[in-house]
Amino acid sequence: MKKLASDADVANLETPVVLVDRRVLERNLARASAIARSAGVALRPHAKTHKSLALARRQVELGAIGLTVAKTSEALTFLAGGVGDVTVAHPLLDRRKIGRLIEAGRTQGAAVRVICDSAVGVEALGSTAAELGAVLDVLVKVDVGLHRCGVDPSGSDALDLARRIEEHRALCFGGLVSHAGHAYRAEDLAAVRRVAEEERQTMVAMTERLAAKGIAVPCVSVGSTPTVWAAERFDGVTEIRPGNYIFMDLTQVSLGIAGRDELALSVLATVVSVNRSFAIIDAGSKVLSSDRGPHGSSRLAGYGIAASLAEPDDEMTVVSLSEEHGFIAHEGRPLTIGERLRIWPNHACTVANLSRDLTLVEHRSVAGRLRVDAAACTA
Ligand SMILES: Cc1ncc(COP(=O)(O)O)c(C=O)c1O
Repeated sequence: MKKLASDADVANLETPVVLVDRRVLERNLARASAIARSAGVALRPHAKTHKSLALARRQVELGAIGLTVAKTSEALTFLAGGVGDVTVAHPLLDRRKIGRLIEAGRTQGAAVRVICDSAVGVEALGSTAAELGAVLDVLVKVDVGLHRCGVDPSGSDALDLARRIEEHRALCFGGLVSHAGHAYRAEDLAAVRRVAEEERQTMVAMTERLAAKGIAVPCVSVGSTPTVWAAERFDGVTEIRPGNYIFMDLTQVSLGIAGRDELALSVLATVVSVNRSFAIIDAGSKVLSSDRGPHGSSRLAGYGIAASLAEPDDEMTVVSLSEEHGFIAHEGRPLTIGERLRIWPNHACTVANLSRDLTLVEHRSVAGRLRVDAAACTA
């Protein structure tokens, strides 16, 4: 990571700007590697959180076997940037996207995996791979309770799909994949831990059922930040895919997953106007996003917590947003126009996605700048 203007004071930056505390980031990265190492599982972080090649390379340096992404275009960015192993954890149906992905993997000599939860998906993946003379690794997505994508674990769909994949000359059954995003709705840490254990048990039971029918499951991939952080057991799991952990955010704090000192990402903003009720900052929904939390969760009031650089412990709520303005309830505090505030967002992934770069800071100094290489990847 290139060091730019190392003596620049954070307080002098143009605002709004997304800050990433380098020491906290490194601690979060190291923690994921340690969890994977001690559990004896592979780490495949979800790169939708940072969308940055520099951070992806750092994750790989620290032991990640590759990345998870949500979009074909993200996969292409990371493959072109030299990441050698990418899983697109989103059902792909469009043969143009599937074709681009296969070609990119081939050009880069990289391993590419995809997921599916339907016969329609298997057909789209299989026919495209066959046309291109490729063999594509496909994992079957299992719905462990989020009810977003995935086959019902109580039925026979996983077995049917695994068979269909195995029987296709251009596909290879890569295993099972789950994401217990409903953990974000849990009331406390103990409840998150229960969700993690239910996910593990469901995946182990599925693996055994497939094995009993003669289908080996080479990879059992689970993960979200809360469940990976809270889990006590990983037996039967072979891979974890946390994403948000690299930055953490107020949602993780509210779940008891992270402490305030584990939040790596914040937004520096300037107070541009003050009225009786609110201090108005120059960061609105186009910087902080209107997201109250992952998976539509609204466990937190407002859109983040603000504090002045001088008094970081005196917290105020960002109560509402318009596109370019944020409303801070100052509750009579004597905030001044021009003052800098640091905002801790509810959901760090959506904030990073809206920015073109991230400013690395150490203490109060600028330590570098990172491009959000896949920021505009929508397809
Ligand atoms: C399929 C999948 N895997 C992993 C993750 C990572 O979850 P988190 O950001 O909670 O770490 C996500 C997040 O949306 C996901 O959708």
